[in-house]
Amino acid sequence: MTDDRIASARHRAKVMSAEDAAILIAPNTTVGLSGFTASGYPTAVPLALAARIEAEHAAGRPFKLRIWTGASTGPELDGALAKADGIEFRLPYNSDPTCRDRINRGEMAYSDMHLSQVAPVAWQGFLGPLDTAIIQVTGIREDGALIPASSVGNNKTWLDRASQVILEVNRWQNPELLGMHDIYYGTALPPNRVPIPLIRAGDRIGEPCFRCDPDKIVAIVETDQPDRNAGFTAPGPDDLAIAGHLLEFLEHEVSKGRLPPSLLPLQSGVGNTANAVLTGLIDAPFEDLSAYTEVIQDGMMALMDSGKLRVASSTALSLSPELTERVNRSMGDYRDRIILRPQEISNHPEVIRRLGCIAMNGMIEADIYGNVNSTHIMGSRIQNGIGGSGDFARNAYISIFMSASTAKGGKISTLVPAVSHVDHINQDVQVIVTEQGLADLRGLSPKQRARVVIDTCAHPSFRPALEDYYQRALKGSYGLQTPMLLDEALSWHSRFVRSGSMAPL
Ligand code: COA
Repeated sequence: MTDDRIASARHRAKVMSAEDAAILIAPNTTVGLSGFTASGYPTAVPLALAARIEAEHAAGRPFKLRIWTGASTGPELDGALAKADGIEFRLPYNSDPTCRDRINRGEMAYSDMHLSQVAPVAWQGFLGPLDTAIIQVTGIREDGALIPASSVGNNKTWLDRASQVILEVNRWQNPELLGMHDIYYGTALPPNRVPIPLIRAGDRIGEPCFRCDPDKIVAIVETDQPDRNAGFTAPGPDDLAIAGHLLEFLEHEVSKGRLPPSLLPLQSGVGNTANAVLTGLIDAPFEDLSAYTEVIQDGMMALMDSGKLRVASSTALSLSPELTERVNRSMGDYRDRIILRPQEISNHPEVIRRLGCIAMNGMIEADIYGNVNSTHIMGSRIQNGIGGSGDFARNAYISIFMSASTAKGGKISTLVPAVSHVDHINQDVQVIVTEQGLADLRGLSPKQRARVVIDTCAHPSFRPALEDYYQRALKGSYGLQTPMLLDEALSWHSRFVRSGSMAPL
């Protein structure tokens, strides 16, 4: 059974149960796990670990871990460990509801980081040592090289940095994944950093497999577990309207000669709206597209299957259950058109700036000057995290943020006098799109930006209140570069917290 996936006899000797592997992890240590979205994340060992933690807690013995991943993972990892109250600290991105609750109740420390910065920061060392890496792989070659799974994330760094390594060899992953990955080993810390030699989205600059010192591998567990990403809902009217405005804008930019007819490498964030935009590109008049992004969702696969998308570079496949099965069955067909890289390369600021990506990300809210909040609800409650949106927004050729103009059944305006938390400063936000319209903020002053945002993006039910605030700010502000009423700028949020609605009383 094991021979075809674990070709090295030395490695085969380390196969054991998930329960036995979980015993090798000590309390109060740091564990780096694979996984970027619910793709390529370990499942059996984290579940066994969660059961062990529950047993230790029941016996009155504290057992907590510091958890580092690529980004969000699946329920068997974040969900199970959080339910067992086994996570003391977590980085860098989370979308698991149990973790989110614990973080917002103050029971778990969470460091939300730019995804490109996690590996370099781990190398700098101030996060402390990495005790254990738990990494899902597709197989182990005779020479000990590890064939990566459907996400790469920070695996290269965890394998290099950890004192001990536990591997999950997942038989579900298609062996034809071999050759799809591009693992770059040329990164270094200053003063020894050199340029990343990646000139086009489709370039390969690394190796197909991970290296790993066999002496560090303490356990190998065999699994057979599909990736488990959530499906997408059919695009609603708001998603379709946003996609329509965005595609019209891109066509306009091409007609003005500011973008080439094949556009520039696309980066697309997570969620239904981003998916609708990508699907909309199938019928748009652009050919020979490319993508340089961090996750490949269903919309991007549809674009590729339509023949419009030539190549896509990413760190993970993040597909609905239906598409996961179909793509996994025919992985070999995509091997020359999809490249999976470490997230420090898929999100590398130098590369994003060089390629000139068109960055399209979701947001929670924007203010009338174009500052964007991607992470916090009412200023204090974390939703997910900044993910790669900061890596891309600051370095993109055009940085676009999108959202419906209202949330929570119309009780919240996503365009506000001042954002309750800033992730992307107005200088990093060039275009805002809602179902109402698209605000092109490039080159505008703060007052010019406010005019366009209020007139173009705000929902009609909130537009008069925004206009009223802005007019009074023009008269009562301390200065007139970025007019603001200090006592009132966050009053929309406090009204929502008090009354359940941002609507003026
Ligand atoms: N105020 C309060 N709540 C708001 C809100 C606002 N202005 N805007 C959205 N929400 C709530 C929604 O109601 C929803 O809540 P629910 O889960 O209780 O129903 C939740 O936030 C998610 O919003 P949704 O409309 O489903 O948006 P989404 O799935 O498109 O996600 C972000 C939007 C901003 C949360 C998401 O894009 C994200 O996490 N971004 C940061 C990471 C990122 O950009 N990565 C990109 C690189 S891959």
